[in-house]
Amino acid sequence: MAKIVVMDHPLIQHKIGIIRRTETSSKEFREMISEIAMLMSFEATRELPLVDIDIETPIGKTTAKELAGKKMAVVPILRAGLGMVEGMLAMIPAAKVGHIGLYRDPETLEPVEYYCKLPSDIASREVFVIDPMLATGGSASAAITMLKEKGAKKIHFMCIIAAPEGVKRMQKEHSDVDIYIGALDEKLNDHGYIVPGLGDAGDRIFGTK
Ligand code: PRP
Ligand code: URA
Repeated sequence: MAKIVVMDHPLIQHKIGIIRRTETSSKEFREMISEIAMLMSFEATRELPLVDIDIETPIGKTTAKELAGKKMAVVPILRAGLGMVEGMLAMIPAAKVGHIGLYRDPETLEPVEYYCKLPSDIASREVFVIDPMLATGGSASAAITMLKEKGAKKIHFMCIIAAPEGVKRMQKEHSDVDIYIGALDEKLNDHGYIVPGLGDAGDRIFGTK
C-alpha cells in the first residue's frame, strides 16, 4: 500500500486558511495555490534518490550529493491543476510538463476526458499528478489510469484539499500511488463539493462562474 501524507506544516496550513475564505480574490488565491504547491513539493520529493559526487570547493575536495538523474514529469489536471504548476517547477525546474484535460459532469460527477498531451518518454519518468481538489476521486483516478495506459510506472498524486471519499477511492483503484494532501476535510455534500473545502477551485483560480 502506498503512502498517504497529510501535511502538517504551519505555512501550508496558514495558506490553506487563506484560500478557503470566500473573500479571497482570484489574484491572492492563485498566489497561494502556487506557494502551497511549492511547499508541498518538498514533502512529495523527499524520497528522490541521491548519489555521491566528487567536487571541489574553493577550499578543497569533498563528496557532495546530487539527484540520481531520475527524470521527472509534472502533470496538472486541467483546469485547476494549472495553478500548481509554477510552484512545482520553481523547485524542480528540469521536469517536463504533461497536461490532462478532465471536467466533472455536474449531474453524474463522472470525469469527462477532453485533452491529453504527455512527454513522449513519460514511461521512464517519475510523475507528479497535481490538482488542488480530490473530491469523489473520479478525476484523479481517471488521470492516473490514462498515465498508466501510456506506460507511467512511478506516480505520485498531490492535492491541496481532499475528501475522505476521494482518498478511499484512490486507495481502492490505485493503491500503488502515493498521495500528498494539504488538508483532509470532513466529507462531500450532495453536489459532490468538499465540506468545508473552498468552493470550485477552477472558478476561483480563473475568475469564472
Ligand atoms: C475539479 C477539480 C478536480 C475535480 C475533483 O475540476 O479541479 O479536477 O473537480 O472532483 P472529483 O474528485 O469528484 O473528480 P472540475 O471538474 O471542476 O474542472 P475545472 O478544473 O476545469 O473547473
Ligand atoms: N471540485 C472543486 O473544485 N471543488 C470541490 O469542492 C469539489 C470538486
